[in-house]
Amino acid sequence: MTKYLIVGAGKVAKHLNHYFRLLELSPLNWDRSQDPHLLKTKVAEASHVLLAISDTAIENFYKKNLAGLDKTVVHFSGALNIKDVIAAHPLMSFGPELYDFETYLKIHFVLTGTDSLLEALPGLPNNFSVLPAEKKALYHAMCVVGGNFPVILWQKMFAEFEKMGVSHEAARVYLETVLQNTLRNPQTALTGPLARGDKHTILKNLESLDGDQFQKLYFSFVEAVSPELLSEKERQL
Ligand SMILES: NC(=O)c1ccc[n+]([C@@H]2O[C@H](COP(=O)([O-])OP(=O)(O)OC[C@H]3O[C@@H](n4cnc5c(N)ncnc54)[C@H](OP(=O)(O)O)[C@@H]3O)[C@@H](O)[C@H]2O)c1
Repeated sequence: MTKYLIVGAGKVAKHLNHYFRLLELSPLNWDRSQDPHLLKTKVAEASHVLLAISDTAIENFYKKNLAGLDKTVVHFSGALNIKDVIAAHPLMSFGPELYDFETYLKIHFVLTGTDSLLEALPGLPNNFSVLPAEKKALYHAMCVVGGNFPVILWQKMFAEFEKMGVSHEAARVYLETVLQNTLRNPQTALTGPLARGDKHTILKNLESLDGDQFQKLYFSFVEAVSPELLSEKERQL
């Protein structure tokens, strides 16, 4: 019979605990604030040990506490490959707020080290796909590029708009439309000077960012999307 032990007390551990309780899976829990002896007892009771701890801690924790035991061990890192530990990366962002049941049910898991969610996380009805270990680095880079970088760009836009008196609400309507258009058709969603090849506007935008680290980012986007637009001299700006 499946008995889960969730290790950790961070964001993912909290969300997993909540989701597993909603699924009536009654997981055990252990984190560093508890007696280390309790870890042994709980591991002995568990069939599946879920390492919802920092990437830097996973391998050592596994080697010290779980290697050689007859347990299914799972971690949730999108970047790591650890021998004998299944990776089940939830393609999701987990912050401090818990989600509703419907949201948890829609989370897609990307598995490495098994080809079945039934082996990694029995009792979870979620969709999943399987990724070879050698593809994980690029997969995770794309999670960062697509899921994290836009947040940094949006934070910058909100901060600069605020200084100019452009409201959060105005920016929200803009961003919602951009996201909806992108989800509907990524190929046609890009608008603005890069989509139009409007070099004049691009150079004015770059000039307005003089002395700002985001000027380098703007340059990088032009380089990545339309490198032919800027001459060697303009790149030295
Ligand atoms: N957050 C996300 O959106 C997200 C999404 C997908 C996958 N993940 C993956 O999920 C895993 C957990 O991420 P998280 O966001 O939950 O991190 P987090 O909120 O920073 O929590 C990390 C947890 O790891 C514990 N920990 C750190 N070192 C430890 C050690 N040596 N021994 C035992 N526990 C240790 C911390 O314990 P203390 O509280 O005692 O310091 C804390 O409970 C990572 O592999 C991450 O890549 C995260």
